[in-house]
Amino acid sequence: MMSTALLTGTPLAGRVAVVSGASSGMGAVTAERLAELGATVVVLARRKERLDSLVKNIEAAGGTALAPAVDITDRDAVQTTADQVVERFGKADLVFNNAGVQLISGIEELKVDDWQRQIDLNISGLMNVIAAFLPHLTDSAAQGKPADLINTSSIAATRILAKFSIISSRLGVPAGQNTGQLSGVSKRSASEPEDSSGHVDSPHPASTASSSLAALPIEPGIRCR
Ligand SMILES: NC(=O)c1ccc[n+]([C@@H]2O[C@H](COP(=O)([O-])OP(=O)(O)OC[C@H]3O[C@@H](n4cnc5c(N)ncnc54)[C@H](OP(=O)(O)O)[C@@H]3O)[C@@H](O)[C@H]2O)c1
Repeated sequence: MMSTALLTGTPLAGRVAVVSGASSGMGAVTAERLAELGATVVVLARRKERLDSLVKNIEAAGGTALAPAVDITDRDAVQTTADQVVERFGKADLVFNNAGVQLISGIEELKVDDWQRQIDLNISGLMNVIAAFLPHLTDSAAQGKPADLINTSSIAATRILAKFSIISSRLGVPAGQNTGQLSGVSKRSASEPEDSSGHVDSPHPASTASSSLAALPIEPGIRCR
């Protein structure tokens, strides 16, 4: 049974966590929490000033953080960031692959630029982060050390919601933006390689107060894979 007790102390001391989409929302609060629990945190997003302010807060609280501004749809830039992480901290052993957008519209509205943006960020961007950091995680797992990959999905991957169908229908997944694909990626990678001590998970947030989904009739909450 899953424990709901809050962690205390610094159980993540010595760990290096990468958080994408850290300039706002769940990424920002998760980065602060990971730092509080002792991890060195690398925060990724495009808005450098927001990342710098997050780093300032983390350092003021005694933590260590680095903020390489990066557009995760740029595969080379993400790889360069991963190389910087190696230079500064050795390697990452926890990746919260969280950057994403939810551009909700009916298919008949033909918002094709929004469709493309979601494919570029929510699918290709997510895969760019996996490609750049998976060698770190597999290395860590191969040494019998912890290695965590957490890909943020959405409640939209678990049920049929009006106006969420566009990309899921393109990908042939049952429901929800490109998040069905994302949950599928997480489930597949959770089983590969079979003998790994690494850990892959995929939270399915329903609706946070700050999100565009807050206006929809969805109960707030987060369900994990
Ligand atoms: N909030 C919800 O209710 C909810 C529900 C279901 C699923 N989700 C998913 O959960 C994740 C976090 O949601 P949120 O509402 O907390 O997010 P949010 O506040 O909207 O933040 C999105 C983050 O993604 C970053 N981002 C966007 N484009 C990027 C790019 N090209 N390169 C790098 N970073 C980029 C943004 O930073 P910059 O703009 O600075 O680059 C920002 O930090 C998203 O994947 C979202 O789809 C959220």
